[in-house]
Amino acid sequence: MPIGDPQALSAAPQSAEQVGRVISVRGSQASVGLPPAAAHAPEEARATVGKFLGVRAGKSLLVGLIADVSLRTEPLLRNQEQVAVAQVDLIGEIRDNETASAFFQRGVTNYPAIGDAASIIGSRELRLIFENPGARMIEVGQLQQDGTIPARLDVDEMLSKHFAVLGTTGVGKSSAVTLLLHQILAARPDLRVLLLDVHNEYSRCFGPKAQVLNPSNVKLPFWLYNFDEIVDVFFGGRPGLEEEVDILSEVIPQAKAAYAQAASGAGRLTLKSEAAAARYTLDVPVPYRIADLLTLLDTRMGKLENRSSRMVYHKLITRIETICNDPRYAFMFENANVGGDTMVDILSTLFRLPPKGVPMTIMQLAGFPSEVVDVVVSVTCRMAFDLGLWSDGADPLLVVCEEAHRYMAADHSVGFAPTRRAISRIAKEGRKYGVFLGLVTQRPAELDSTILSQCSTLFAMRMTNDRDQGLLRSAVADTAANFLAFLPSLGTGEAFAFGEGVALPARMKFRQLPPQLLPKSETATVGGAAAPTDDHSLASVIERWRGRAAKPRSTDRPVEETRQPPLAPGEAPQLQPQLQTSQSQAQQQAAPQPTALDPNRFKLLKRPLDPVAPDPLRR
Ligand SMILES: Nc1ncnc2c1ncn2[C@@H]1O[C@H](COP(=O)(O)OP(=O)(O)OP(=O)(O)O)[C@@H](O)[C@H]1O
Ligand SMILES: [Mg+2]
Repeated sequence: MPIGDPQALSAAPQSAEQVGRVISVRGSQASVGLPPAAAHAPEEARATVGKFLGVRAGKSLLVGLIADVSLRTEPLLRNQEQVAVAQVDLIGEIRDNETASAFFQRGVTNYPAIGDAASIIGSRELRLIFENPGARMIEVGQLQQDGTIPARLDVDEMLSKHFAVLGTTGVGKSSAVTLLLHQILAARPDLRVLLLDVHNEYSRCFGPKAQVLNPSNVKLPFWLYNFDEIVDVFFGGRPGLEEEVDILSEVIPQAKAAYAQAASGAGRLTLKSEAAAARYTLDVPVPYRIADLLTLLDTRMGKLENRSSRMVYHKLITRIETICNDPRYAFMFENANVGGDTMVDILSTLFRLPPKGVPMTIMQLAGFPSEVVDVVVSVTCRMAFDLGLWSDGADPLLVVCEEAHRYMAADHSVGFAPTRRAISRIAKEGRKYGVFLGLVTQRPAELDSTILSQCSTLFAMRMTNDRDQGLLRSAVADTAANFLAFLPSLGTGEAFAFGEGVALPARMKFRQLPPQLLPKSETATVGGAAAPTDDHSLASVIERWRGRAAKPRSTDRPVEETRQPPLAPGEAPQLQPQLQTSQSQAQQQAAPQPTALDPNRFKLLKRPLDPVAPDPLRR
């Protein structure tokens, strides 16, 4: 029970700014007796929850947060003035206050004594707290307590231990991310950013600083994918059939070996060279050709007597062919039979190495076939981490993931396991290799709590759901947890910032973004009501829906120019030299799948996946 000392409390006259005196102390919590607030008192002088209170203790000014204010229930004794009591969590201290060398530090070394005067922290002290002259700071808005004080974040602390932006829909998370990234890029010219843009809304936010990638201009060839990923692709996001997966696990290394052998000029391929295949594990990203893979499958099938075993191969071959010929998958299977190690090009484009003045990549995920979005996220995040790992963190990279709950769900049966593995690897070990993570989610309760605990700076925006707040409560320190009660009352663009990136847990308002930089879905019409959908635009919507928009745009360089196959035809003999393009075979793919193997089926594969017909959706 708090110990009141009426003598001390009533003895000293209160200074103008003083709001009360310490009446009890327990650990790092102090209770401060308060007089009733005068109705006309200015807002800055009112001791209300969420404000910082300073308690003078010797030469130091202890800084605490008001977590709770209530009417005093114990007898007021002789001091009739202090009718209310504020619970204050002490979180830091300004040492040598009132001298020129005053500085702020987290944690409390001196504790207050009964009767110490408490006052609302003024502008000078707030400035001192948020200044931190030793660190690289970025300004992202103002403090709510005093609008004249900029909200400043320590960019290195915030990045190296990851950050998260949480809040219900429409509270300004994406706008906050835009603002944060602008400021981070300005403060860290060495940093590159990969933004996984789930709703295609960031393309206009970063102007010339960012390249925008989507299925029409990105190349993520199938051989980059690890085994789990490629199985997921072949099986359209459903679990693979065990027999077929086993076969794939044997033939993929052989196809890799066959390609490498051909590329090294070792002459004609011996597809049975299992010893050579042993050098290639399933997951190493080395090129191979789909034609080789299919030939291998076909050869194996030819040796089988048993009809049901042949059917397994047949189904697998048909499955691979169908996917390869789907125009929506052109970003993976274009040039599937040409080969060529384009990994340097791919990594340098995707991760901006060298940046050449464009340090950011916006990966628009909404245009990818929905069943492979997870795989695309997995392969990109995995490559981001591996690149950091194998280059010893020479080029720091920030990966920002919107809708993180989709990939890192609390329920481990939801989502694609390799994606979860790739992101949590960045969260756990990324900082050693210069790979940092920024997570954004509107459903914190559905996010894996272990990943949130890896994020040491959190921006909590408006959140009304108890479960969301509960998750946050488990992730932040007790002191900060007191803030969580305010979350439902935050305005748009307001946030509580906790953790390493901020000096103190603080309620802040993000700076206003100019309208042209606001994240906005590309599908929404700019500047007001959506235009009514006429027949023509509906037709183009349907066309896009069906995947025609996956074709490269006219502005893209032709395939021949983009990737020079590194091998002359003689050096890399195709396993099926008779591959030819033909329109009629392109049509065959739309027909129901044949029950018997089509002897010409490989012809389907050599058809360029993007016919030259003009694309009505070209912009
Ligand atoms: N910093 C800001 N500056 C200007 N406007 C803002 C800002 N923050 C939020 N807004 C306004 O709020 C709207 C919603 O913001 P935003 O799209 O960032 O929310 P969100 O939390 O990302 O929503 P969702 O969960 O649906 O993705 C914006 O369109 C904008 O009008
Ligand atoms: Mg958003």
